[in-house]
Amino acid sequence: MKTVKIGICGLGTVGSGTFNVIARNQAEINARAGCHIAITHVGARRDNPNTDTSEIMLSRDIFAVVNDPDIDIIVELIGGTTVAKDLIMQAIAQGKHVVTANKALIAEFGSEIFAAAKAHGVAVAYEAAVAGGIPIIRALREGLSANKIEWLAGIINGTGNFILTEMRDKSRTFEDVLTEAQALGYAEADPTFDVEGVDAAHKLVILASLAFGMPLQFDKVYCEGISAIAPEDVRYANELGYRIKHLGIARKHAHGIELRVHPTLIPERQLIAKVDGVDNAILVHGDAVGSTLYCGPGAGSEPTASAVISDVIDLARMLSANPENRVPYLGFVTNRLENHTILPMSDVETSYYLRLSAADKLGVLSKVTQILSDLGISIEALIQKEPKEDQVEVPVIVLTNKVLEQKMNEAMHKIEALDTVLGSVVRIRVEALN
Ligand code: HSE
Repeated sequence: MKTVKIGICGLGTVGSGTFNVIARNQAEINARAGCHIAITHVGARRDNPNTDTSEIMLSRDIFAVVNDPDIDIIVELIGGTTVAKDLIMQAIAQGKHVVTANKALIAEFGSEIFAAAKAHGVAVAYEAAVAGGIPIIRALREGLSANKIEWLAGIINGTGNFILTEMRDKSRTFEDVLTEAQALGYAEADPTFDVEGVDAAHKLVILASLAFGMPLQFDKVYCEGISAIAPEDVRYANELGYRIKHLGIARKHAHGIELRVHPTLIPERQLIAKVDGVDNAILVHGDAVGSTLYCGPGAGSEPTASAVISDVIDLARMLSANPENRVPYLGFVTNRLENHTILPMSDVETSYYLRLSAADKLGVLSKVTQILSDLGISIEALIQKEPKEDQVEVPVIVLTNKVLEQKMNEAMHKIEALDTVLGSVVRIRVEALN
């Protein structure tokens, strides 16, 4: 049996998971790959107590792995877009195939990396970059390749979903849950990437390119995180029959593509609304298949390793195939990628949840509803809560029907200018996902 030699760079959460799962499932993995997959070199600045590397060559300099002439496939699991990029480019230049879980690198530099790989006749695989253990890259690139994809919407950050779930179910504070997510290895090295939506934006860009056949355009994504979600919004949304989820949404229109990441109210009857904890879920709507839902662990050591190893197996199988016949990186052959217009948020139409603090005076509500109706915005539900003890303001929650974001911006501006409305209006977009 032929041996394919693997070098792993990075022995953190995902690196150690990859090492351990290959060791544990070696027989099944070899049988699926049709060859012997051997980790022969690991590069890591520090040992990982969860991983026994005593039998393997271990280098403190990760570039020693790339420069090892015996290695066929480099598995990059160090993260970031600086050293990781140099490492991958060097591996490609040396004719090595690459597997990476690095969504930031693919979203921001994917085109450059894929071009270099093409020039050197090697492959770069990145299943683990989106939605942890869920094989969503393969689902889009291969399983759904008969379809025109019309839209997709997903919970694509495990840390954020874990935080929102714990806040809702256990009334825990944002900071407390984030600390636990870091300890569990879910969060990024810089957790603001998780809570401010950057990580989800990286993943959405990759999914949208695969869905619609367009170049990766990270700088065009509209991005809002979950850090401003207050516990009362989670409660009020529940009362209205909704769940707040942090969604990445990509939708194709005749005049352009919506590409947006933000907290979203979803009707609780939707299956995706029930996806809790660190799990991710992606709804994909294709013209032939209709709606399909992919769900599973979105982060963590072995779930992400599962996706990394699936790429290793694919590459090992492919080592005997003609490079020209391989599946294209973004599902479409490069010269058929289209430069679709990405729509500005002002052109996006959606429903809204608004929460405002109004002075407890006669006529306040009628002024708010008048502003909405003057702009042609119809109201789906309206709740006025009791003022809290010793407080003069009352929370008012409004659910609207669909309206252009531009109109909603105008309405919010006018509502905030009312002297009977205190502070800013909280706005969370609502998607029925029908
Ligand atoms: N920080 C990421 C998340 C890890 O929480 O989803 C998986 O990409």
